[in-house]
Amino acid sequence: MEPKISLFVSVIFFYFVSLHADTLQTYVVQLHPHGLTSSLFTSKLHWHLSFIEQTISSEEDPSSRLLYSYHSAMEGFAAQLSQSEFESLQKLPDVIAIRPDRRFQLQTTYSYKFLGLNRPSNGGAWYSSHFGYGTIIGVLDTGVWPESPSFDDQGMPPVPRKWRGICQEGENFNASNCNRKLIGARFFSRGHRVASMSSSPNIIQEYVSPRDSQGHGTHTASTAGGTSVPMASVLGNGAGVARGMAPGAHVAVYKVCWFSGCYSSDILAAMDVAIIDGVDVLSLSLGGFPLPLFDDSIAIGSFRAMEHGISVVCAAGNSGPLQNSVANEAPWIATVGASTLDRRFPAIVRMGNGGLLYGESMYPGNQLSNLQKELELVYVISGDERGSEFCLRGSLPKEKVRGKMVVCDRGINGRAEKGEVVKEAGGAAMILANTVINLEEDSVDVHVLPATVIGFAEAVRLKAYINSTRRARARIIFGGTAIGRSRAPAVAQFSARGPSLYSPTILKPDVIAPGVNIIAAWPQNLGPTSLPEDSRRVNFTVMSGTSMACPHVSGITALIRSAHPKWTPAAIKSALMTTADTNDHFGKPIMDGNKPAGVFAIGAGHINPERAINPGLIYDITPDEYITHLCTLGYTKSEILAITHRNVSCKEILQMNRGFSLNYPSISVIFKNGKTTKMTTRRLTNVGSPNSIYSVEVVAPEGVKVRVKPRRIVFKNINQNLNYKIWFTSRKRSPGKDKMSFAQGQLTWVHSGNSSFYRVRSPISVTWK
Ligand SMILES: *[C@@H]1O[C@H](CO)[C@@H](O)[C@H](O)[C@H]1NC(C)=O
Ligand SMILES: *[C@@H]1O[C@H](CO)[C@@H](O)[C@H](O)[C@H]1NC(C)=O
Ligand SMILES: *[C@@H]1O[C@H](CO)[C@@H](O)[C@H](O)[C@H]1NC(C)=O
Ligand SMILES: *[C@@H]1O[C@H](CO)[C@@H](O)[C@H](O)[C@H]1NC(C)=O
Ligand SMILES: *[C@@H]1O[C@H](CO)[C@@H](O)[C@H](O)[C@H]1NC(C)=O
Repeated sequence: MEPKISLFVSVIFFYFVSLHADTLQTYVVQLHPHGLTSSLFTSKLHWHLSFIEQTISSEEDPSSRLLYSYHSAMEGFAAQLSQSEFESLQKLPDVIAIRPDRRFQLQTTYSYKFLGLNRPSNGGAWYSSHFGYGTIIGVLDTGVWPESPSFDDQGMPPVPRKWRGICQEGENFNASNCNRKLIGARFFSRGHRVASMSSSPNIIQEYVSPRDSQGHGTHTASTAGGTSVPMASVLGNGAGVARGMAPGAHVAVYKVCWFSGCYSSDILAAMDVAIIDGVDVLSLSLGGFPLPLFDDSIAIGSFRAMEHGISVVCAAGNSGPLQNSVANEAPWIATVGASTLDRRFPAIVRMGNGGLLYGESMYPGNQLSNLQKELELVYVISGDERGSEFCLRGSLPKEKVRGKMVVCDRGINGRAEKGEVVKEAGGAAMILANTVINLEEDSVDVHVLPATVIGFAEAVRLKAYINSTRRARARIIFGGTAIGRSRAPAVAQFSARGPSLYSPTILKPDVIAPGVNIIAAWPQNLGPTSLPEDSRRVNFTVMSGTSMACPHVSGITALIRSAHPKWTPAAIKSALMTTADTNDHFGKPIMDGNKPAGVFAIGAGHINPERAINPGLIYDITPDEYITHLCTLGYTKSEILAITHRNVSCKEILQMNRGFSLNYPSISVIFKNGKTTKMTTRRLTNVGSPNSIYSVEVVAPEGVKVRVKPRRIVFKNINQNLNYKIWFTSRKRSPGKDKMSFAQGQLTWVHSGNSSFYRVRSPISVTWK
């Protein structure tokens, strides 16, 4: 026993030492917004440096520790500090919060047609919004490949006068890479550089410049604001005109994500600059996990952005279908989940016993079609950490797989990487088998060898067949691109779900948008799988994730702004939400797997841009109302200061706003502590036509009685505000200790007299605790 114990102790000791020795870590330090005026300093930078100066030893230059000095997204700075410096800094006056730098992840075209944007008659959204002309979409991501045809500026109007951004020079990137489409590009690498010192070098070159080394940012930026590119395809698949959602909008990229991840210090720095640069929309296809608002840099930076009239749109995350997985939950952010399109890439498996398994692939196999040979099937199970069943690197014995069709389970490594592993081991083809985690999700890839992905039910049948015979055989029949045959939109399996872990009084996600098998622009020096071994070159590739759903909404937000330049971010979000669809293109409820989707999967529903441009009524929210909302939730003074930079007295605010409800376009009711009634209010603003009459239609959640007053609202003028009240009475008992139950319904204001063109719908969720 002796040696073991001492070893244990020495490990602890080592950890202890490394924690207290002078290892530096990055911290984001938030300061009191009025601190500078009461200090002797004339510049923010000097003021920020003074904090570092007070905590480090006198021989050191404080500016060597400063990473960023923030000015607009947050009051404060990012710096490298040791544990003891962190502790002494915490005690200084005007320091309101210090957070360790966090690492976020990326949430990894036809969709414009699917969304009805190009409909010419009767105000297809593009025509009524002039394609988003005049608006600027800022994209925080992995950068951009400026030579992509999606960023060609032919036909683009001049750069808006208000634009103050730059085209930052760096590795393989200079001012000549920007144009009237891509009007700005910057990179933020200080947090990343500090963090990545220990990370291993990647095989693919990482450009220290706005140039995209990974493809993700080129893909998302072109989805939001890419120009029209005729005859686009991915090696022949999905051929058509590729277009962003707002093909007339300008794009500015802020590179904050690197191979090592996306650091909150860099993200804040980018938001800080973007606010001053003059963007109208910020698109963030990144995030991590649910966080309390006062601890969430994205929530804090986006509050300031919202105060400046900038719409912030974020991905909901890819940790679905787990409950409470939705990230980026602040009420001033538009949180976007992912849905499927009705475009398929069939690649069907015919087993030796004649059985057919539906699969999909973007392997360019059209030409081969039925000529694809029947091959011997093999599923190698190692059952250990080698992970042969997952086809991890180096796990497949060549003698077992050479010339065969190899079955690989989804999970652990990337889908396309599994194909490369099979190919390297001499395999001839691959079947990717979904597991109980992915079920029927069908994210396709441009595989490096003939391959298809099959759902979980099909995978069970395939494995039973392999088990049933000594010489299992199969072939893959590639069917090209098929449109309109499947039910869509449906919820993507991976799309993060509510209810919001830290802010359950706001229903999240807000909306869903296309995020599965999205084709968009790609760096011209990367293969379509982005594997280092993939030597093919393309201008477009396919990706899936809430990362892809987010820029759809960012682009549509730009369209709405272009049509209604005076609307606030809250008004635009209201328009997106109250007009969203809950039925699919077959007129049936949007599905989530094999059941109708709930509000925690789709929020208000699937975006409908044509209706969102002209919603009839909106629910608007002022910055002050968000603060009152935080007061009603019981946030402390210092937490509210950290989120909003405002020193408020909730006591006074709540006295002045008795019975306050945040004017959110969706409704979340929580019955707890045995309470059985809840009242909430809403305020409608008429943005449709004067002399409009609306009446209310309610679908009450099960076990709840809903009463609305008044039930009929008459607007005389445009921009007129009118209020209504809703009472919820629970007829159910609470589910008991430590249990929760849910129900859902909806409330719709229907315009009377005129073809009920305007239907202003709010989803309702009810939670018993
Ligand atoms: C910018 O880069 C392009 C090509 O990458 C090069 O031709 C041009 O000379 C560069 N311009 C400047 C001002 O460095
Ligand atoms: C295959 O057969 C083995 C042994 O008979 C059994 O343990 C396994 O569960 C079977 N697998 C499937 C997928 O049917
Ligand atoms: C990509 O686009 C460029 C510019 O439009 C074009 O010259 C090139 O041929 C395209 N590459 C492929 C693989 O289609
Ligand atoms: C906040 O404002 C109150 C007065 O309203 C003041 O007494 C207090 O010092 C302020 N707190 C901070 C941290 O500035
Ligand atoms: C009905 O509503 C549409 C959309 O706002 C409007 O264009 C049209 O003039 C209205 N018709 C009548 C008869 O009010």
